[in-house]
Amino acid sequence: MAGTSVPLKIFMVKASTDAEKVQLPEKTRNSRVLVLGGTGRVGGSTATALSNLCPDLQIIVAGRNREKGAAMVAKLRGNADFVRVDIDDKKSLETTLSEVDLVVHAAGPFQQTDNCTVLDAAIETKTAYIDVCDDTNYSWRAKSLKKKALAANIPAITTGGIYPGVSNVMAAELVRTAKSESEGKPKRLRFYYYTAGSGGAGPTILATSFLLLGEEVVAYSKGEKIRLKPYSGRLNVDFGKGIGKRDVYLLNLPEVRSAHELLGVPSVSARFGTAPFFWNWGMEAMTNLLPVEFLRDRSKVQQLVQLFDPWVRAIDGIAGERMSMRVDLECSDGRNTVGIFTHRRLSVSVGTATAAFALAVLEGSTQPGVWFPEEPEGIAIEARDVLLKRAAQGTINFVMNKPAWMVETDPKEVGLGIYF
Ligand SMILES: NC(=O)c1ccc[n+]([C@@H]2O[C@H](COP(=O)([O-])OP(=O)(O)OC[C@H]3O[C@@H](n4cnc5c(N)ncnc54)[C@H](OP(=O)(O)O)[C@@H]3O)[C@@H](O)[C@H]2O)c1
Repeated sequence: MAGTSVPLKIFMVKASTDAEKVQLPEKTRNSRVLVLGGTGRVGGSTATALSNLCPDLQIIVAGRNREKGAAMVAKLRGNADFVRVDIDDKKSLETTLSEVDLVVHAAGPFQQTDNCTVLDAAIETKTAYIDVCDDTNYSWRAKSLKKKALAANIPAITTGGIYPGVSNVMAAELVRTAKSESEGKPKRLRFYYYTAGSGGAGPTILATSFLLLGEEVVAYSKGEKIRLKPYSGRLNVDFGKGIGKRDVYLLNLPEVRSAHELLGVPSVSARFGTAPFFWNWGMEAMTNLLPVEFLRDRSKVQQLVQLFDPWVRAIDGIAGERMSMRVDLECSDGRNTVGIFTHRRLSVSVGTATAAFALAVLEGSTQPGVWFPEEPEGIAIEARDVLLKRAAQGTINFVMNKPAWMVETDPKEVGLGIYF
């Protein structure tokens, strides 16, 4: 990962802890935003961020449990309410959506599902839509509803969380800057993610992680789609300030296909790692020891989650919940650029990131249709800077378009010899 002598646009955001208030346009200032899964970690964090950033919004927290709903509403300032909704109940979903302007769908898991009930209902009721989906099949199923969303004139974004989500926008900006500043062509894009413990996330994220271990990893090498074993291909990656070097492993994540197809980068892969180190060993062991059919069965995985959850929570207390994402772009002329985003608390930053997407939609940055975050119709190019700045609030390290050597402590990778 050598540096480059090509002049680089350096983009840095001062770390801040106070949410900077956002003034929405007059017509969306008092919008009603439904946060499905708002009683959970990601949805709750999103509702909190939205209510802090835009106290004039009306936030409706939705889930199946009234007690959890009342507790969440009590934490939010300003206009907040709870509504009981089961996303598997089409009628109640449509009734609720018909009364709001935007729905943020955070009621996962998105893995191993057959349809996009919430997006279907959003199109039916002409409601703007964002999901925090982290499943490739789900995201492309959502994308296949583009024409219907266009006909209904609703803007919709799939994979609009932190990773995927903000990481896609970081990748899109690295590619755009490289194309405008260098002669070389984008050649290889790699997403690296690190989260300590469960990142303060809910049981759903544990289920998501286990379900991902049952999926073959899709990556792209020189334009060819390749299939690899989950939680294999270990690399030791330097996440820079606040995190340092961490082991990361291949996972099947939606930003790989969307970045390959929509940004036109021939080689793309995504890796993830956690701490303490033995959780990585546990994930590797589960991939090697448990039958794939078991890891693809949502109810069996749910039982596994119940078994592991108390242990994960206990160790979370020690591990903390720091997160970092590093996106690397290599170009054919040797130019290598990197983006890094590091936060002390994933449970906070995921909400800030999702709220940044919600605000972009409310500000009119998204065209009617269904879009991935890296598509200019999803987040307009001129709105990316604002989205990244908003999402980066509270980060301890956020840099874009820097050569790798400037952000690393000691550039070195230990892997299995083949890097995708
Ligand atoms: N893109 C990203 O950056 C990103 C990052 C982290 C997580 N995620 C995804 O976010 C999702 C949520 O994770 P989490 O940690 O917030 O999980 P969580 O704490 O378990 O929350 C899940 C929420 O969904 C609700 N819910 C579940 N099934 C429902 C149903 N049938 N109808 C209505 N509400 C339902 C739950 O409420 P009740 O059970 O009370 O109904 C709860 O509010 C996961 O799928 C995860 O993969 C994405």
